[in-house]
Amino acid sequence: MSQVRLERGAGLIKWYDFQALGDERGSLVAFELGQAIPLDIKRVYYLYGTALGVSRGYHAHHNLTQLAICVAGRCRMVLDNGTTREEAWLDSPTKGLLIEKMIWREMHDFSPDCVLLVLATEHYDESDYIRDYQKFLTEARNAKK
Ligand code: TYD
Repeated sequence: MSQVRLERGAGLIKWYDFQALGDERGSLVAFELGQAIPLDIKRVYYLYGTALGVSRGYHAHHNLTQLAICVAGRCRMVLDNGTTREEAWLDSPTKGLLIEKMIWREMHDFSPDCVLLVLATEHYDESDYIRDYQKFLTEARNAKK
């Protein structure tokens, strides 16, 4: 199998910018379906308290689109479409990173204060996960043929 290369500007990193409603008291970001967010959200979850040195993710989904927003702290997201890998730092509560279906994702380098909010288009379904990287590569590459 050919190697998956890390490549900048590969087109895997797609950001959504949110408007911060701020005043002297602080900031606020609101998501309204069909407006700031292009997805039909069925589930929201967040990762926090990630232990030092722990990486998460290591899976893809057959049929799930997600938007990841680092509402506090930072972490590094790696996205992989089976041919190319691209990475980005999530470190802004006003930027959402789109993770489309059949994209392998890994999250690394969580800061101790990182809170990673994820908006998802489907309910939790373990059978939708691809947790084996070789299986993911085979499926992703077959889909492109
Ligand atoms: P998992 O998706 O493996 O975490 P990550 O890929 O971010 O490292 O989920 C961790 C555990 O939480 C696993 O037992 C499944 C459970 N879980 C839910 O019950 N509901 C959810 O919405 C999510 C995302 C996970």
